[in-house]
Amino acid sequence: MKKTINHIAQKKRIGCPITMVTAYDFTTAQVLDEAGIDSILVGDSVGTNHLGYKSEREVTMDDMAHHTSAVCRAVREAFVVADMPYGSADDAENALVNAKRLTDCGADCVKIELWDDKAGIVRVLAENGFTVCAHMGYNPQRHNKPQLFGRDAAQAAELLNGALALCDAGAKLVVLEMTPNSLSRKISAAIPVPTIGIGSGNDCDGQVLVVNDLLGMSRRLFKHAHRFANLREKMFEAFKDYIDAVKSREFPGDDHSWK
Ligand code: KIV
Repeated sequence: MKKTINHIAQKKRIGCPITMVTAYDFTTAQVLDEAGIDSILVGDSVGTNHLGYKSEREVTMDDMAHHTSAVCRAVREAFVVADMPYGSADDAENALVNAKRLTDCGADCVKIELWDDKAGIVRVLAENGFTVCAHMGYNPQRHNKPQLFGRDAAQAAELLNGALALCDAGAKLVVLEMTPNSLSRKISAAIPVPTIGIGSGNDCDGQVLVVNDLLGMSRRLFKHAHRFANLREKMFEAFKDYIDAVKSREFPGDDHSWK
């Protein structure tokens, strides 16, 4: 059965952790969906992880539409969140046009990077029927390098008040990226909608990881991430084996050809 925002919200109410992973292509989305993931995020991390861009800022609406469509063609059950890329939600008018484009591709929800300064845009989107996820803390589109947000009392209060304002404006999910555990716990307890953490400790209502980090495809291992597999090594070995087998004429063998 297709998972809705109500299903995700219910998990917070009953204290059952929400699982989210990024995906950018059909096959990965299909495997995640079959594995029973709650939600798939078509993140603008597609830019640095799959498209070779230097920064999330290079990701365009065309990129997001292309990858969101690929993911949505595969998904049967997971709740699909698509990122609004840099510059696509700067004012209410372009936010509405671009959110519609992503939901037309099949996304169930759009995610916007912001603190409280975009509460007005969240409100317009929510009033027009879009399900909105607010991305708080470290915002790759806005900040140059990863850093912890909410270390001091003033910034922590700003984040907490920002999260409350965004929920009041109609946000139905909040991603917390790189906030200290104690602040994530406080925000998760204070707001009525689920928090999904990345580098924000174990007290968020759910967790999200970038699929390349989870599968061990990235060269770097970030402190917040864990490699649940080592696909980069496995891919390398498989490619080497293939190259050797072709060179030595071991492949294709009789099993792979017709006489
Ligand atoms: O684009 C992305 O992958 C994200 C996650 C880091 C939350 O926004």
